[in-house]
Amino acid sequence: MNLKEKIRVIQDFPEKGISFKDITPLLQDKNAFKKSIDCMKKWSENLQADIVVGPEARGFIFATALAYALNVGFVPVRKPGKLPGQVISAEYSLEYGKNILEIHKDAIQPGQKVVIVDDLLATGGTLLTTARLIERLGGQVVGIFFLIELSELKGRETLKEYNVKSLITY
Ligand code: PRP
Repeated sequence: MNLKEKIRVIQDFPEKGISFKDITPLLQDKNAFKKSIDCMKKWSENLQADIVVGPEARGFIFATALAYALNVGFVPVRKPGKLPGQVISAEYSLEYGKNILEIHKDAIQPGQKVVIVDDLLATGGTLLTTARLIERLGGQVVGIFFLIELSELKGRETLKEYNVKSLITY
C-alpha cells in the first residue's frame, strides 16, 4: 500500500498559496494507520526508547500510538498554558511571529532515551525546540520520526544532528 495516496492535498488551505497535507484519510484507513505505526516501530528497534514524546496536536496521534506499540510511556509537549504542573518553556521563531512550547519538568528523567514523533516536518522549528526541551531535562533524543516531510523547507538540515526518518516525502 502506498501511504502517500492516503494523504489528501488541499490547495489554498488555511490560506492562499499553502498546499495543505491532510492526514485524516490516512488515519481513517485502518491498514494505512497501522502501517505507519508499524514502520515507526521498526525504526525504533535497537534504539531502546524509554519514552515517546509528541508535540501538540497532530503529533499526539502518532506518538501515543507508537508509545503503545513500544510498550513505553508518552509525554506531551504543548502550547503555552495547557500543562497544569511545573513546566519549562522554549520560544522559537516562525516565518511571521513566535511560538512557545512547554513540557512538564518531571516528564523526562536524566538519561532516558527519547523518541519524538510528529505528523509533519516543515522548517523543523517545532521539533528542534522539542528536542532542546528534552535535552534540558537530561533526556537523550535517539530518534525523530515523521509521517510527512516537506523537503523544500529543509527541516532535515535544521535537525541534522539527529536520527531523522520520515515515511512520506513531498
Ligand atoms: C504543524 C505540524 C508540526 C509543525 C511543523 O503543527 O503538526 O508540528 O507544524 O512545522 P515546523 O517543522 O515548521 O515547525 P501546528 O503548529 O500546525 O499544530 P497542530 O498540530 O496543533 O495543528
